[in-house]
Amino acid sequence: MRRVVAIANGKGGVGKTTLTAGLAGQVAATGLRVLVVDTDPQGNMGRDLGYGLQDGSSLGLAITHGLPLDVSRGVRDRLDVVPGGPALWDIAAAFTSRGARGASLPGLRRAVDGVRPEGTDDDYDLVLIDTPPGEPILQELVFASSDYLIIPTRSDEASLDGLVVVAQRFAAARAVNPDLTLLGVTLFGVRAGSTRLIKRVQSALHETLDGAAPVFATSIRYLESAAVDMRSRGLLPHELEQVHRADKSLRINRLRQGARVDTGDSLLSRDSSAARLASDYAELAQEVLTAMTQKEAQARVEVAV
Ligand SMILES: Nc1ncnc2c1ncn2[C@@H]1O[C@H](COP(=O)(O)OP(=O)(O)O)[C@@H](O)[C@H]1O
Ligand SMILES: [Mg+2]
Repeated sequence: MRRVVAIANGKGGVGKTTLTAGLAGQVAATGLRVLVVDTDPQGNMGRDLGYGLQDGSSLGLAITHGLPLDVSRGVRDRLDVVPGGPALWDIAAAFTSRGARGASLPGLRRAVDGVRPEGTDDDYDLVLIDTPPGEPILQELVFASSDYLIIPTRSDEASLDGLVVVAQRFAAARAVNPDLTLLGVTLFGVRAGSTRLIKRVQSALHETLDGAAPVFATSIRYLESAAVDMRSRGLLPHELEQVHRADKSLRINRLRQGARVDTGDSLLSRDSSAARLASDYAELAQEVLTAMTQKEAQARVEVAV
């Protein structure tokens, strides 16, 4: 069954794009089919997934004129992408000038529903939609077109403010799309040993979101050099871990042969950090998939009663 999940926060730099790419890659690596839709005019997803910058015009035209979407196929095994880019800056203007916002809202959903994986009768298991931090109209479009919402946040005060903004937009979006479910909040870039801080943030989140938002037990640890290695090379966490492993065995072999160990292209991160980050993503992906299954089981019980 296809599930459409929006990743949003009213603030930039809280990990939306990194998380979308990392979760998508992780879920695809476990054998499910994934489509990523980048609705950010900045198109950062191209860097994280290593496919380079695109202009986003296909997504723009799909939203404004209902044209079918161009899909970048096979960005990874079982992972396709609808790229974002600067053409999406015009969406807000297009909607405002037409004065047809409400009537056109399901346009994104229809466009995304029309995308199918190639060479199989199976559908995507998961569609992850990355969103820009500002651009309320784009966010509204995404919220109107999604089944679930995941909110990443850092643990500082400013990021928590961004969370309040997105919580308000979520509440407003439910008027248009009552099926939109807040799946959970992910603490992103949390420093080691900050268990007490995490607890405090979690209770603040429960208050802000009126207890309605579960906070995922798995947070993404603060590992900056791993993040730099990932983004500069277009590697996902589990891929960085693999690169470290390959690098290590190469070094060991060279040492055994008495050859000089080449450190020219060395990574900034340590192999242990890459492994920790990869395990955070693996655990979080599992938690996200389980949370959706639970929500759906709950919904079935409610219908049956
Ligand atoms: N585990 C991590 N620890 C610390 N910083 C990270 C980590 N993962 C990613 N980052 C950095 O966090 C920043 C914000 O990421 P990004 O996903 O682009 O945010 P957003 O999409 O919300 O604007 C980037 O500079 C990225 O390199
Ligand atoms: Mg982003």
